[in-house]
Amino acid sequence: MRGLAAGNWKMNGTGDSLSEIEALLAQHPAPACDVLICPPATLLARMAAAVQGSGLKVGGQDCHAAASGAHTGDISAAMLVDAGAGHVILGHSERRADHRESDAVVAAKVTAAQAAGLMTIVCVGETEAERDAGRTLDIIASQIDGSLPEGTDAARLVIAYEPVWAIGTGRTPTNEQIVEVHEALRRQLQDRFGTAEIALLYGGSVKPSNAAEIFALPDVNGALVGGASLKASDFGAIIAAL
Ligand code: G3P
Repeated sequence: MRGLAAGNWKMNGTGDSLSEIEALLAQHPAPACDVLICPPATLLARMAAAVQGSGLKVGGQDCHAAASGAHTGDISAAMLVDAGAGHVILGHSERRADHRESDAVVAAKVTAAQAAGLMTIVCVGETEAERDAGRTLDIIASQIDGSLPEGTDAARLVIAYEPVWAIGTGRTPTNEQIVEVHEALRRQLQDRFGTAEIALLYGGSVKPSNAAEIFALPDVNGALVGGASLKASDFGAIIAAL
């Protein structure tokens, strides 16, 4: 399966930041893997225009489960598509923590996003306390169960394993810990969907210096990158490692 290097800009970036996209396109006019940037919603349409005709794709960082209506500040899946997105990140741990998104809420968003034609990148990951308590695999399995609704289209699904304690901290799990979780994810998804073709991304403090080692691990099909996706030089090096 083709690798996916996905950048999550989180709440970073204004019009000036589009220069990073121009620099990335200059570095990687025809990347050997899929490359996706998920900017803040305010930049989506401008970034979609900037990458038109290139190998780069753009996506959203979240969407509402409803098609439209009285949801001040929210964005629907159809609006993301309208702005040029082909993907959306759902269930990021920052959304789960900051906006109290439960697995059921994430599942409803997956249904809405897939119905709108989006590829859905569903995030799962344990906290440090859960890992210390030896509950990592149980937590991940139950997040997968609860966050993927009945009727999930496996062809529109990507899973990102992001240990909460590795996000933005500079700390990464050991290779063995990444492999253990990715193998468990692969088994669970194979059992449920009957396919091994769902891309599994690792996320959490991925940077140019550790990307190649992480990408070489079995069942790692790419990365969801936060801080290191903001600069073309860093993200470009990560793309080159995949
Ligand atoms: O979604 C990507 C993310 O949470 C990882 O962030 O900054 O640790 O690469 P970072």
